Amino acid sequence: MTNPSQDSVIIFDTTLRDGEQSPGATMTHEEKLEIASLLDEMGVDVIEAGFPIASEGDFNAVSEISKRSKNSVICGLSRANFKDIDRCWEAVKHAAQPRIHTFIGTSPLHRAIPNLDKDQMAERIHDTVTHARNLCDNIQWSPMDATRTEHDYLCRTVEIAIRAGATTINIPDTVGYTAPRESADLIRMLLEKVPGADEVVFATHCHNDLGMATANSLAAVEAGARQIECTINGLGERAGNTALEEVVMALKVRNDIMPWGTRIDTTKIMNISRRVAAVSGFAVQFNKAIVGKNAFAHESGIHQDGMLKNAETFEIMRPEDVGLAATSLVMGKHSGRAALRSKLNELGIELADNQLADVFLRFKELADRKKEVYDDDLIALVRVSDDATPDRIALKELTVICGTGGQSAEMVMIVDGTECRAKTTGDGPVDAAFNAVKEIFPHSAKLELYQVSAVTEGTDAQATVSVRLNEDGRIVTGSNADTDTVVASVKAYVHALNRILVRRDKVAAGGDTREISYKDAG
Ligand code: KIV
Ligand code: ZN
Repeated sequence: MTNPSQDSVIIFDTTLRDGEQSPGATMTHEEKLEIASLLDEMGVDVIEAGFPIASEGDFNAVSEISKRSKNSVICGLSRANFKDIDRCWEAVKHAAQPRIHTFIGTSPLHRAIPNLDKDQMAERIHDTVTHARNLCDNIQWSPMDATRTEHDYLCRTVEIAIRAGATTINIPDTVGYTAPRESADLIRMLLEKVPGADEVVFATHCHNDLGMATANSLAAVEAGARQIECTINGLGERAGNTALEEVVMALKVRNDIMPWGTRIDTTKIMNISRRVAAVSGFAVQFNKAIVGKNAFAHESGIHQDGMLKNAETFEIMRPEDVGLAATSLVMGKHSGRAALRSKLNELGIELADNQLADVFLRFKELADRKKEVYDDDLIALVRVSDDATPDRIALKELTVICGTGGQSAEMVMIVDGTECRAKTTGDGPVDAAFNAVKEIFPHSAKLELYQVSAVTEGTDAQATVSVRLNEDGRIVTGSNADTDTVVASVKAYVHALNRILVRRDKVAAGGDTREISYKDAG
């Protein structure tokens, strides 16, 4: 997979590394495995599964993803030192196709951090790439902040990395500073000037600070790069990374002017986009290209008229191309278990019998309350049911009073088997209910994000709620869905608290503390 033909581009997904390291986007072990398997199934060529030296949790996730990988190359990140590289190799070596990715910041600002002069850094690059290549024959090297590195020094370091055995040279625009013409010129310059450049694959890794990540990545490909590094939904720090769905669909829809193919099954895009949004707690903006709720909605009168006559009037790609089925009414409250199973299978969801029984119960409850149950309602139900976090804290009863006369909540919860009660007030019904949770289960975690979105249209729609809590720098996300927004909110909050308890146990057992970021010089 590392040597693409001239007419194809390698898709390198870093949702689980650059995406997951963005503050707040932390995923659990199981969630990482699930996302990795979806990436593999959709045809991603290289999955950057994590940063193994960062924590026990990262190491275990990369190892397990490596063991389970089917078609994708599994890559781990390491800074430019032997300890990081060895740890990375320990994790990725289980993969059928492992890759070590090692990097160092080469721009003047980044060279100052480990306090290396140009010669010392050049030597470090030679030694670390050589060390990595002695372990694995698929090596990616990145000069971090390449777009702000002096051109002659960039050429010199790239040449050293190639001579030391790197097989892929990645050119990161770490701070999202470049623009399309410059992005292309940089790749062209490296291909022209660096001896051995034609023997390796050049990659482009763009951040979206100026909103140009997709354009910069495609410009780099036009200039000769043959690997695009990207994340699902453009997840990533600050304004995020290049969005996988954008570059892949641009290459597909405009193949006439950008004749490079990918192996991605684009019909799997919507499903993975929804999953990444749910597990990271980073909702997709409504008008986001390709995967936003409005991306295929043609609501204005003029557009609708045109669409009825010929869909192509305003549609450059079909919703089905990205896996967006027309919203369909699923079933009513009289539908049986077999019908539910077959509908879920149609949506690509396979459940074991016990999971199906749980989802069926929830479906019946929902169908009693809600007139119409749609595909998206079912997807939300399945997601609520498939979380394996133990419920040490659970909501039993909740009564909320709200309106102009004031807001209060009366709550019964089960905490480690004991029934606990609270009656609280607050600034709005959700605040009152959250105060009740805090009274019953005092904790120091800070609420960093509270986000509500409607699953479908209508006032009886389910609300999906994401809650992000931060306890001593450890961030967890909880989510839930219910037609009652306050109930969904409390359940999402409680879900996050249960995850905090799991984290506390792991930390007490000496595991899963992320102390290193790739930004720490090493
Ligand atoms: O943006 C960046 O420079 C990175 C590197 C670690 C490749 O993510
Ligand atoms: Zn990055």
